[in-house]
Amino acid sequence: MQYLFVGGNSGSWTLKKQTVILGEPMPDISHLQIVGPDENQLIQNPTWILRGFTSNIRYTNHTEDVELKKQSAPLGRVEATHGAMIILKKSVAWWNLAQDERRRIFEEESKHIQIGMKFLPEVSRRLHHSRDLNEPFDFITWFEYAPEYENAFSDLADQLRATKEWQYIDREIDYRFIKSEQAR
Ligand code: HEM
Repeated sequence: MQYLFVGGNSGSWTLKKQTVILGEPMPDISHLQIVGPDENQLIQNPTWILRGFTSNIRYTNHTEDVELKKQSAPLGRVEATHGAMIILKKSVAWWNLAQDERRRIFEEESKHIQIGMKFLPEVSRRLHHSRDLNEPFDFITWFEYAPEYENAFSDLADQLRATKEWQYIDREIDYRFIKSEQAR
């Protein structure tokens, strides 16, 4: 399912903080609107639009999948008024690896799932793939959590950034948002 992430000066999510972790910045925005596959919203004067689609799992094994499904909370929870969009591009070196080498780096060496799982169910998430759409980023990652979980979320992102997987990241921007009153 395809989602549009529309950056500009209007939308349900108000920008709280933007951090360019690595690589070229994006044009500044003050708001974000996420447009789902069944929505047909009119977006006025967007600064940029990023597209991504949800897909099948690539690196998760069966046991992990069962555990993740058991522990995950859905997006759109009332208490989850804070959101994060982290957009990432991986390197040519990453994409040149074979599937089994990528899995090994992703989980056996970097423990992406093992680390991430500790933050469930407080953090809800959805992964969007963009690489095959020739977008500027390979992934759009979206997270929602309660305000008191902001620091824990930052801690999670820092833990992942210290892993071997992140040595294959070429570009990364971290946006934090607060859901507008009207959208709650
Ligand atoms: C809330 C805790 C998190 C959990 C439980 C989690 C879990 C996962 C899982 C299971 C996958 C693999 C999906 C597949 O099999 O294809 C994945 C992929 C991914 N995650 Fe996370 N994650 C978490 C947090 C994060 C954060 C904070 C970031 C960004 C800073 C992130 C970025 C990514 C990216 C970019 C991918 C795609 C990797 C690729 O296909 O090369 N994740 N995550």
